[in-house]
Amino acid sequence: MKFKNILLDKELPLAIITINRPEKLNALNRETIQELHHAFDHCDQDLETKVIILIGSGEKAFVAGADITEFAHFSVEEGGKLAAIGQEMLFDFVEQLSTPVIAAVNGFALGGGLELAMACHFRVASHNARMGLPEVSLGVIPGYGGTQRLPQLVGKGRAMEMIMTAGMIDVERALEFGLVNHVVSQEELLAYCKKIALKISNNSMVAIGQAIKAINAGFKNSTNGYAVEIEAFGACFGTADFKEGTSAFIDKRKANFKGA
Ligand code: COA
Repeated sequence: MKFKNILLDKELPLAIITINRPEKLNALNRETIQELHHAFDHCDQDLETKVIILIGSGEKAFVAGADITEFAHFSVEEGGKLAAIGQEMLFDFVEQLSTPVIAAVNGFALGGGLELAMACHFRVASHNARMGLPEVSLGVIPGYGGTQRLPQLVGKGRAMEMIMTAGMIDVERALEFGLVNHVVSQEELLAYCKKIALKISNNSMVAIGQAIKAINAGFKNSTNGYAVEIEAFGACFGTADFKEGTSAFIDKRKANFKGA
């Protein structure tokens, strides 16, 4: 398979997917999201691939978020669609994959990057990783499942604080929060993930697929928080604060929010 923004390496029984836009800190544009969908789907169909590891290219970032330049001028309707399509195509898709997916968080995992890491089945980070959901600093909210998966993983109060402050946490804090399962050096990260993946691959893949389904089922509520997130995310696109937040990022200046 040929991709422009990602690399797919098969080291059977493992597959390694690398998001490969290091000059943009691996920010997720529309094309990258589509390519990731195809790569995950392909690996899931391939019975010889038993575990997938997802990592970012370069030494600085796993993924620094959704590509801000792509959505800065979106309307309310386009904003809602962006979240709905992205969630279905990538984030929910990865979470529900029957092939296990490990996120190797090798640097910044911010916004959509942390949301993608959280959609993976579990996370291992390198010491230099920094994690956060900075969306409210741009006048928007997490739209790729972050308002749902962060509280599931770290608890409601910690998620509230992380989302409201838009701050980043280091790996010691992420480990304490249960957001990542292990922390290792950057050099060791991929080898460490492969070791866990090989251990998983000795087990019954049918049983693991069923376990993933059962574990995920326990987190589905009767009120669909993801749908509420999509609507609230879209509503942000109609605010002056959103226009100010995204223009400030693009112009490389501090945002001056008016609260409207
Ligand atoms: N979308 C689009 N471009 C992004 C991006 C994003 N989410 N994150 C980083 N980039 C781009 C930068 O614009 C820059 O591009 P340029 O060289 O063409 O100007 C390049 O990636 C390198 O990033 P830079 O900001 O120069 O690196 P830094 O080391 O100074 O800062 C971060 C690193 C992660 C703190 C900073 O890039 C950042 O705050 N990114 C946005 C994070 C965010 O808000 N994500 C949530 C999106 S919803």
